Amino acid sequence: MFQVNDNFQKLPGSYLFSTIAKKVSAYSQANPDKKIIRLGIGDVTQPLVPAITEALHKAVDEMGNAETFHGYAPDLGYDFLRSAIEKNDYQARGCDIQADEIFVSDGAKSDSADIQELFAADTKIAVCDPVYPVYVDANVMAGRTGTYNPDTQMWSNVIYMPCTSENHFVPEFPKETPDVIYLCLPNNPTGTTITKSQLQEWVDYANKVGALIIYDAAYEAYISEEDVAHTIYECEGARTCAIEIKSFSKNAGFTGVRLGYTVVPKDLKRGEASLNAMWARRHGTKFNGAPYIVQRAGEAVYSDAGKAQLKEQVAYYMKNAATIKAGLQEAGYTVFGGVNAPYIWLKTPDQMTSWEFFDYLLEKANVVGTPGSGFGPSGEGYFRLTAFGTYENTVAALDRIKAL
Ligand SMILES: Cc1ncc(COP(=O)(O)O)c(C=O)c1O
Repeated sequence: MFQVNDNFQKLPGSYLFSTIAKKVSAYSQANPDKKIIRLGIGDVTQPLVPAITEALHKAVDEMGNAETFHGYAPDLGYDFLRSAIEKNDYQARGCDIQADEIFVSDGAKSDSADIQELFAADTKIAVCDPVYPVYVDANVMAGRTGTYNPDTQMWSNVIYMPCTSENHFVPEFPKETPDVIYLCLPNNPTGTTITKSQLQEWVDYANKVGALIIYDAAYEAYISEEDVAHTIYECEGARTCAIEIKSFSKNAGFTGVRLGYTVVPKDLKRGEASLNAMWARRHGTKFNGAPYIVQRAGEAVYSDAGKAQLKEQVAYYMKNAATIKAGLQEAGYTVFGGVNAPYIWLKTPDQMTSWEFFDYLLEKANVVGTPGSGFGPSGEGYFRLTAFGTYENTVAALDRIKAL
């Protein structure tokens, strides 16, 4: 008789976005005349830019022609895309990363969930709290996280690094030494980040204690301040302790197109084992390559036209971020983030819980956001608004909030 992987039974239901959807649908059924503005989910709203749609059309035509048709893609990615990534995301920033250290994938969610397959079963992971839930849940499925305490919302075998206004959202080195540290910078959900020298301290720490950093840089394109690293490989010594995961979802609107990549430097070794060789082996077995059409679209992200058009698109969302931030401050809220990331993290007023504030905002302003407690216990008392809406909706939402 077959048995299931019991680790799945340990997972608490991921009710965050389904609870939000249920509450919003109940409210709009009861109040059909109300126009609800959604600033909750981190999905983009602007269409693909022309440089990308042109590349897609061209690649589709190639696929319809016997001479230029492409079958299975190389499972690590086409050279044209890996070289464009090497040149633009790394060499242009003075970082020594080569194309054969870059693994093209279908996005950062799968890579950030799957990378734990390289770790030993008894690996102890450390995560920021609040956190993008995928890192912990993937380790739960692999049976690495111990038991879940519903009261504290914590796993017994996970190290939590609280990131709150008290420590300016900068994670501190944990008391217990972790084997693997997940860092997402700029951060989802808090919209905050750390300076390059603070990141260098994490790299030095990881090299000192022999830990591996999984660095999720999905929001890199939104960095506006000078002293923030665009890649962890700007830090000295990162080649021996860090894997970097990138997405095309937020910088180029690929949430529905699907493309990402992971960098595994060849210097990353444990004993005789090369993590680069292991990830190549894993990719070769479990992944059959991102579509040719999509990789051509990814290449267009690095063309002159693509870069110029995407700069404007990122600026569009960051204008929304500035509008939300200024509007909330005007209304008396304490606000964080929104400078190097498309998320605004606000302190709920009057000691309201995150969910109380969710209901308040939905009912009084017909605006939907995300309760901070959904991202971890240290998110309680905070609330996330995204800058990924349209400008018109963002302005209207803030007008409503200011009028409360
Ligand atoms: C921190 C972080 N990493 C990864 C992802 C997923 O990216 P992708 O669309 O490339 O799977 C998200 C999406 O919201 C995210 O917030």
